[in-house]
Amino acid sequence: MTTTAQRVAQRTPPPRDPSWRPQPTLPGGDYHLASVWERERERLFGREWVCVARDEELQSPGDYVVRDVAGESVIVVRDADGIVRALFNSCAHRGTRLLDEGAGHVRSGAIVCPYHAWTYDTRGRLLGTPNVHRDEGFDRASHPLSSLSLQVRAGFVFACMADEPPPIDAYFASNPEGDLIRSAERWHMQDLRTAHRIVYEVEANWKIVVENYSECLHCPGVHPELVQLVPLFRTGNVEDDDGAELADGAWAFTRSGTTNRPMLPGLHPEDRNVYLGNVLYPTLMLNLHADCVMSYRLEPRGERHTTIVSEFLFHPDTIARGDFDPSDVVEFWDLVSRQDWAVCERAQLGVTSKAYASGGVYPEKDRSVWDFNERYRRSMGPR
Ligand code: FES
Ligand SMILES: [Fe+2]
Repeated sequence: MTTTAQRVAQRTPPPRDPSWRPQPTLPGGDYHLASVWERERERLFGREWVCVARDEELQSPGDYVVRDVAGESVIVVRDADGIVRALFNSCAHRGTRLLDEGAGHVRSGAIVCPYHAWTYDTRGRLLGTPNVHRDEGFDRASHPLSSLSLQVRAGFVFACMADEPPPIDAYFASNPEGDLIRSAERWHMQDLRTAHRIVYEVEANWKIVVENYSECLHCPGVHPELVQLVPLFRTGNVEDDDGAELADGAWAFTRSGTTNRPMLPGLHPEDRNVYLGNVLYPTLMLNLHADCVMSYRLEPRGERHTTIVSEFLFHPDTIARGDFDPSDVVEFWDLVSRQDWAVCERAQLGVTSKAYASGGVYPEKDRSVWDFNERYRRSMGPR
């Protein structure tokens, strides 16, 4: 456990690493070429664990959400036994998309194809095939919906399209910033509930969004309000695993630095005035505060567009209070988010330049961006 004294010491920027030498970024084409996006779909999003939802979105059997995982439409549904499952959103008859993107509830526990009305249960088993009969030699049991592997951790639902997915806990342990699910255990995120959601449509490659999140060289210029709240960010440093200390007297991620919400149960006293933010590779970012958690879940929509879902999670007892009002943290985060998306979109415009074809450079304070790129290169394999 980190002591308060150590945390206070983080106000002082961490010492330089004398061994660091400027490192190359990814080449420009990685941010805008359709061929790279196609390889990512196959090698990265087709094989790794991707966060697709919060478990709480599927309260009752039959509740579902339809999510886009790098161009693959996926149904996440709570089945009749209460188990959350992920199914490819493609009919086993002639491939028709079964459900539209969004959230809903399948009536009578049946997913009915809008084309020829083949009917599946919430486990993906084919139950009904109007006008197609068993005496044709047609065996329904041989034509279920294809499914994805699914695991729930800390209330987040992760799906993997690989036939043999990597063991999920080992997968998290290999995260560039460490196993965030484990290090955030005391936030008890499985018990928290979403009280506010903002969906952003950002004209930038998903990696630009992750890279922007991973560094703070941009903070003094882009986030004048944020650097008042987190003085460390003025120096261009990002926090390490122990987080970044908030300004004197501040303990909430709001303009005033305070809030009327209580601290989350289970946190240590020294968590009170610290902000901890990390990327759970590839597309989930968790921002841990003393009174709430804000998650960004990225949905890459192609080589130049990312949907970003920002969700604000609070303790249910806090939400139930008569004076509950999340607008202080929502407004502050929304301000910071929009500042970020503006520079991400600007970066997207520039990386398509001929001049950037071979990429740019990472100084030491871009180290976390480099770590993300190293992990990305491992996912993608040889070019
Ligand atoms: S394509 Fe779905 S029932 Fe025919
Ligand atoms: Fe930022």
